[in-house]
Amino acid sequence: MRSSKAPRAAAVVVAAGRGERFGLAGKALVPLAGKPMLAWTLDALEAAATVREVVVVAGVHTRTEIKALLKVGRRAKRAVVVDGGPRRQDSVAAGLHVTSADVEVVLVHDAARPLATAAQFNACAAQAAETGAAILAAPVCDTLKRVAGGVIAETVSREGLWAAQTPQGFLRTALVEALDSVGDETVTDEAALFESLGRPVAIVPSDGANLKVTFPGDIALAEALLLHRVSG
Ligand code: CTP
Ligand code: MG
Repeated sequence: MRSSKAPRAAAVVVAAGRGERFGLAGKALVPLAGKPMLAWTLDALEAAATVREVVVVAGVHTRTEIKALLKVGRRAKRAVVVDGGPRRQDSVAAGLHVTSADVEVVLVHDAARPLATAAQFNACAAQAAETGAAILAAPVCDTLKRVAGGVIAETVSREGLWAAQTPQGFLRTALVEALDSVGDETVTDEAALFESLGRPVAIVPSDGANLKVTFPGDIALAEALLLHRVSG
C-alpha cells in the first residue's frame, strides 16, 4: 500500500466532445433535473474530500458558458477551464497538463456521467493511490450475443466481464508518462492505455446508475435517477 491517508487528487472533467449521437455539441450543459448536466458533477466534486482542484476541458462552443457555470454557487476549490482536442485522449492530456504537480492522483471523468457521487470519486482516488490505477466499473448483466449479418453467431459468456465507467483514477506521474508514450495511437479510455503498458488497473464496483448520457433518450432516465436521489 502506498499511503494509508486519503490522497490529494485533481479531477479532469472532459466536456469537449461533439455530442454527435446526442445531436448537440453542448451536451454537458443541457438542463437535467433543475441544473445543467455538468453542475451535477461539479457539485459532487466539491463534496469529495480527496479532490483539491477541478479542471474542466471544454469545446469551442461551450467554453464561455462553462466558465460562467464555474462561478455559480459557492465553490471553494481551484477550478479552471481549458480547451479540449479532437480525440478524448487529447482532451484528457490538455486537462492533465494544467493539474498541479503536487497532486498524487488524477481522476478523469466524463461530463456525460452526471450521476457519479462524491463517495465514488473518493473511493476511486483511494484505490488509484494504492494500485496505481483504478476505474469505476459495473458487472455486465445482459446476456451477450455476437451478431454477424443480423443473426446471432454465438452467445458470449459474461463471466468476468465488466463495463467500464468513469471516474478513472491514476497516479499523476504515471498518467503523464502513459499519455506521452501513446503517440498517434488512439485509445478508447485511459485504462486501456495502462493495460497495454502491462500496468494493473483495479476495479471499483459501481452500479448501472452511473450511466453515460449518449442519446437524447438517456436524459429521461438520468433525470428520474437524480430526482429519486434528491427526494429519497
Ligand atoms: N470528450 C472530450 N473530447 C473529445 C471527445 C469526447 O472531452 N474529443 C468527452 C465528451 O465531452 C464526454 C466524454 O468525453 O463528456 C465521453 O464521450 P461521449 O459520451 O462519446 O461524448 P461525445 O464524444 O461528445 O459524443 P459523440 O461520441 O456522440 O460525439
Ligand atoms: Mg464520443
